[in-house]
Amino acid sequence: MELARFDADTFLRDYWQKHPLLIRNPWAAWTNPLEPDELAGLACEDGNEARLVRRTPKQWKAEHGPFDESRFGKLGKHPWTLLVQAVDHHVPEVAALIAPFRFVPNWRIDDVMVSYASDGGGVGPHFDQYDVFLIQGLGQRRWQIGSTCDAATELLAHDDLRLLAEFTPTEEWVLEPGDILYVPPGVAHNGVAVGDDCMTYSIGFRAPSRSELIAHWCDHVLAGLDEDDRYGDLDLTAQANPGEIGPQALDRLQAMIAEKLGDQQAFARWFGTYTSARKYPDVDWTPEEPITVEELREQLARDGTLCRNPASRFSFVRSGLLFVDGESFDYGPDITALAESICAQDRLTVTPDLLQSDAAMELLATLFNQGSVAFDQPD
Ligand code: SIN
Ligand code: CO
Repeated sequence: MELARFDADTFLRDYWQKHPLLIRNPWAAWTNPLEPDELAGLACEDGNEARLVRRTPKQWKAEHGPFDESRFGKLGKHPWTLLVQAVDHHVPEVAALIAPFRFVPNWRIDDVMVSYASDGGGVGPHFDQYDVFLIQGLGQRRWQIGSTCDAATELLAHDDLRLLAEFTPTEEWVLEPGDILYVPPGVAHNGVAVGDDCMTYSIGFRAPSRSELIAHWCDHVLAGLDEDDRYGDLDLTAQANPGEIGPQALDRLQAMIAEKLGDQQAFARWFGTYTSARKYPDVDWTPEEPITVEELREQLARDGTLCRNPASRFSFVRSGLLFVDGESFDYGPDITALAESICAQDRLTVTPDLLQSDAAMELLATLFNQGSVAFDQPD
């Protein structure tokens, strides 16, 4: 699916992380990529993150999946909505919705959540910590936006839902199929289905918190250190007051920390590995029998296309490091083009010169055997 009437550069300059934006049907031709029944089916499967949110006159109720199929027949008269996370990992047509938003780097993209709501259904006024494109798939939804919130914003007491205690809409629109609302992090929003059969696709992003980064990077650095690596002062000279912790000692102590925590190359390798780790390992494409490099070469010579597992994460850094599903691969100039194109496209057509390259075939065989690529989307 393509965005025919949308300029990414202008959007990034004027709206991304700054202001909400309503984009009226920018698609070349919008078609809803998923049937409500298929969404309900996914909500019943183990391993999928699904929620059901109901609004009764007195309170908001949240239930977590997987659900029994019979649950959907007994929802009662109150407005409800079903939300399923990472639908793109299961449905190629939903994964295709991310393609037009690939002007944002892979590592910032989270997944596509899909919701289905009955008339009046929604998750209530809230804010998210991440940017989101809310694509109206089917039916209509009234979206209201409010002010920018933060950790100090008052929430309703609820075990499961982070609902705003107060919400004053500043703008509102009714979205029709194909319309998109972009909401930056922290901006209060509230989407309510207008009529039944309302489906919304949320292209969600992610951004690490400073505390998460520090905690995980430090854990990683710590794992590579041993107790013998210790402060030393073979240049020690007598000091006037033995009680003083001297400036030289302090400098040297801090340098011991900074040297390790500030190692840029080690950080790039760690971050790529960390950020490419899969969130949902369930979409398992690992072959029953590992393929050998020769078998892969032969098969690719017949059918030269590989596709990426939509649950897999691909990124690279230009110094020659490819990251796929939490693994890092050093690559030389001979396979730079391969490493970069596998990060850019979800299908890879293998050219005759790649078939000749042992380094390329070895890399692809490794990716194939770890379930990150396959010939065709397995069932
Ligand atoms: C929805 O699809 O109902 C909720 C999406 C959101 O507000 O983040
Ligand atoms: Co939201």
